[in-house]
Amino acid sequence: MGTKTILITGANGEIGHGLISHFAEHDGVKVVGVDLNPLDDTTRTKCFKSFTGDILDKRFLDSLSTGFDFDSIYHLAALLSTRAERQPTLAHKVNVDGTLNLLEMTVTQSRLQGREIKFIYPSSIAVYGLPDLPTKHKVGKIKEEEWTEPRTMYGINKLYCEKLGRYYTHFYRQLDAEPMAGYVDFRGVRFPGLISALTLPTGGTSDFAPEMVHQAAKGEPYTCFVREDTTIPFMAMPDAITALLKLDAASREKLGREVYNVGSFSPSASELNNRVKKAFASSDVNFKPDLKRQAILDSWPEDVDDSEARKDWGWKPAYGFERAFEEYLVPAVTRFYMSK
Ligand code: SER
Repeated sequence: MGTKTILITGANGEIGHGLISHFAEHDGVKVVGVDLNPLDDTTRTKCFKSFTGDILDKRFLDSLSTGFDFDSIYHLAALLSTRAERQPTLAHKVNVDGTLNLLEMTVTQSRLQGREIKFIYPSSIAVYGLPDLPTKHKVGKIKEEEWTEPRTMYGINKLYCEKLGRYYTHFYRQLDAEPMAGYVDFRGVRFPGLISALTLPTGGTSDFAPEMVHQAAKGEPYTCFVREDTTIPFMAMPDAITALLKLDAASREKLGREVYNVGSFSPSASELNNRVKKAFASSDVNFKPDLKRQAILDSWPEDVDDSEARKDWGWKPAYGFERAFEEYLVPAVTRFYMSK
């Protein structure tokens, strides 16, 4: 098998870091990393090439397309849900127009290379919108097609971009004389909140969980912006990376849909707090709900039904709640702050 070339947008973000580190440890992949800000030194050295540029700049994307033959495009760049509520029009531009630009670039790449190009897309549980807490508790795990009435700009952007992906894969320019499908092979996962031991998210609403872990590891107090009973699904970063890679590697015939739920564990904020305290006895969490961010979390599901991903491409998280803490988060976050 020859070397693959992969484009990663949002390379400076949390998933970008995880993916780039993974590829750096495995032969056969050349990563072209792109971000609005210069990549940090460690990440940059792990890339084959890196570029600072804006995904809203079509000329920048054209130059990338001319310079490389990409096998897969991992489009990770986005404004997360809390930041997107503060700057909704900017979020729409980056999250939607940016994705549209990348999809168009994928078509260009496909034409240049004469083959279908994979487009790997992290969507989110933010595409869901439960109307109230009793409904959230009642419905429990939800399937992909249920409750897709998001109440955030970010959730709306992600849901729409999933539809764009489906359009580019199956119906692109469907009125043209020549059939235009077969350029883009869009594959998405709806991630729960992600928790990494090595990085912190910026501008998300599920950030209370990683923040709680990192503050405890640093020995600093944490004011948690949610109620103790708040429950949404979470996933350890290594499993998130596995999900993207497995979905990329799956054969197209096995995929019955464009976008899949992936789940791992669903602790309440109070269970998280107890588990963090068990690991870091000095952890000092004070719950002081921000009612507006809380309302967003209350509209996200308690858990997701990921049976389609398990069936179609063998999704299976390595980390449950206990194992995530015991074998990944606690040792890795401890090492991380010791080395600082
Ligand atoms: N973690 C994201 C956020 O909180 C949801 O996908 O915005």
